[in-house]
Parts: sequence; structure tokens; C-alpha cells
Amino acid sequence: MSELKNDVFLRALMRQPVPRTPVWIMRQAGRYLPEYREVRGQAGDFMSLCRNPELACEVTMQPLRRYKLDAAILFSDILTVPDAMGLGLHFIAGEGPKFKEPVQSVDAIRNLRVPDVEKKLDYVFEAVRTIRRELNGEVPLIGFAGSPFTVGTYMVEGGSSREFPTIKALAKESPDVLDHLMNIVAETTTEYLNAQIEAGAQAVQIFDTWGAALEGDDFRRFSMASMQKIIDGLTREKDGQKIPVIVFTKGAGPLLTDLAETGCDALGVDWTTDLATAREYVGDKVALQGNLDPATLRESPEVIRQGVADTLASYGKGPGHVFNLGHGITPDIDPEHLGALVDAVHELSPQYHDA
Ligand code: CP3
Repeated sequence: MSELKNDVFLRALMRQPVPRTPVWIMRQAGRYLPEYREVRGQAGDFMSLCRNPELACEVTMQPLRRYKLDAAILFSDILTVPDAMGLGLHFIAGEGPKFKEPVQSVDAIRNLRVPDVEKKLDYVFEAVRTIRRELNGEVPLIGFAGSPFTVGTYMVEGGSSREFPTIKALAKESPDVLDHLMNIVAETTTEYLNAQIEAGAQAVQIFDTWGAALEGDDFRRFSMASMQKIIDGLTREKDGQKIPVIVFTKGAGPLLTDLAETGCDALGVDWTTDLATAREYVGDKVALQGNLDPATLRESPEVIRQGVADTLASYGKGPGHVFNLGHGITPDIDPEHLGALVDAVHELSPQYHDA
């Protein structure tokens, strides 16, 4: 394994001193880049792109060629896990993800089993190995998975949802059935992330996009507890290097205080909580990642630069900040605008660090 040439991202996650604030962007490989759309066209569709390690590697590298980013993220999706359980993931243009076999009865949930992760998701681990080879130690590679609750919403609703009627009814009427679903997905996800780490992922992020749609007690019982189980089962050190774990619960707000106790190294923060407040919630327990509103990228480079300045100032001085958006970059963004953001982080962040 080659020596890592740029480890500011990993050091910031462990709250160690760094000379500047590292930056990466959720969904940095994606449709806002014309070169991504080109390769996706070549692959045929999104899942064929995910299943082709060479092309998945190519789109992972694309944003790194354009911008001075401090981490790469595996190109894949959180819904590969239920696909491996036999639900039949496919994407319908304009409608997002769908399952051929959603789990819409108590029996269907009770019959779910942990799949053969090594075999069914081998294409993901092959992509991780291919990307590590291609990166050649330039920056670390982030592996990822969805939280059991977030993945569970797609499994029981059958696709994207705004209100989550089915899974919320389960939480109230059959909590033991929802516990079972959370346990099966958590167990599968633990194996999945450990296999990504084994294949070469140097940090992992759990995307809990929808957990905060639950009320506090249900959030803790279903979403947070199942993420806790995953964290407890993860490989935390490999080849003498610590493997940091980031939890991103969108809209967590004051729940960040609870999440800081899960044993993760860092918490993602969306733009509805400012970083100064988030820092008060978590104290010195964990690093923070975020949190510029992705909508800011539609504004002029000057406005973007000011947004970066405000975000850095909100976190303030000292280690433990990883710059990111508060959620993924959207397909309508001008690629030049992301360049303005990344350059501004490089120029404006050194004043917040002593190292
Ligand atoms: O960040 C990255 O660059 C890594 C790749 C990544 C993708 N999806 C690629 C993708 C990651 C980390 C994800 C996570 C993901 N997937 C989440 C959680 C994070 C979040 O953004 O909240 C969720 C909820 C999903 C499920 C999912 N996958 C949806 C709802 C969609 C459709 C979105 C849409 O706008 O059509 C996807 C498809 C998807 N995953 C795309 C990409 C680049 C777009 C597919 C395309 O090329 O058409």
C-alpha cells in the first residue's frame, strides 16, 4: 500500500491539528458534471455504472481532476444493500429508485435474511480496490452505506417518499417488526462496511438522510440504535491506521448531542443548524462536517465565497472541521461554481488553524 500523500481529511476527522480545513462534497461525482453524464451514457444506466468497477472508478476520479478535493468517495449507492437482499432495485427516469419486490407485509419483513454480502456485493469491493489503485495515495477513499432506517424507508415504501406512511405506522403499531427490519439491515450493513474497509476504504460515512423524520424517542430507538450497532461492529483500525466513522443525520439539530455518544468520530451537519451551535451540542467529543446550503452554489462566485467565509467563521478556530455542503450537490449546478467553493476553502481556512 502506498503512503498517503494528503491526510488532512483523516487528521481533521480525528480532531488533530491541520494547516487548513479539508474539503470534499457529498455527491461530488454526479450529474452536474458533463463527463459524468457521458460515462453514465456509456454504461447504459445508473446501476450498470455501479456494477462496472472500471467505470465506477472513472467517475469517482472525475471531480478530483477538476478540483483540489481532500477525499474521494466510492461511487455506488445506499440501495445496493436491499438490492443484495433480493428486492430488485431499478431506477425510473424522473421518479428515482424503485423496488420490484418491496417488503410491504409483516411476513415479508419477518422473512428477510442477511444476504451473502461478499458474493452479492462483490462489484462494490472490486470498485474499492480499483479506485485505491488509481488514487495511488493522492487522497483517502471514503466508503459508505445508508442508515438502516433510511434504507428501510425505501424498502417498505417501495421508493422515494415524503411522508413515510408505511414505516411510521410500523414504528407505532408493530415496533418489534420494525426492530427486526433494523436489525437485519444493520447486520448486513456492518458486514458491507467492513468488507469495504478490508478492500481499502480509509474512512466510512453512514448516510442517515431520513432518520430525523422520526420523533425523538423513535429516532433513538430505531435510527440511532441501529447505527450504534453498526458502529460497535466496525473495524476501526487497519494496517496501523485508524478508520474514522462519520454519521450524517440530515436535520438532526439538538439530536447531535445524542449522536455524539454513538462512538462515531465525526458528525455531518446540515445548513439548518449553524456550526457554532453544533459545536456547543457536541463539545469536544467529535469532529463536525458541513454545512453550506447546497442552494448557495446557484449564486455568483462572490456570494459562494462569502458563504464559505461565513461557514468557516461559524465553526471558528481549531481542529475538527471538515468542509462540505449540508447535503448533496444538485444536478443543476455550474461546475465552475464548485471550483469557486473549493478555492475559497483553500484560501480562507488557514487563518483558523495554528499548525
Ligand atoms: O457522493 C458521491 O459522489 C457518491 C455516490 C452516492 C450516490 N448516492 C450516487 C448516486 C452516494 C453517497 C449516494 C447516497 C444516497 N443514495 C442517498 C443518501 C445521501 C443523500 O443524498 O441523501 C440516498 C437517499 C440515495 C438513494 C438514491 N439514489 C436516490 C433517491 C437517487 C435518485 C436521485 C435523483 O435525483 O434521481 C439515487 C440515484 C443516484 N445515486 C445518482 C447518483 C449520482 C443519480 C443517478 C443518475 O445518474 O441518474
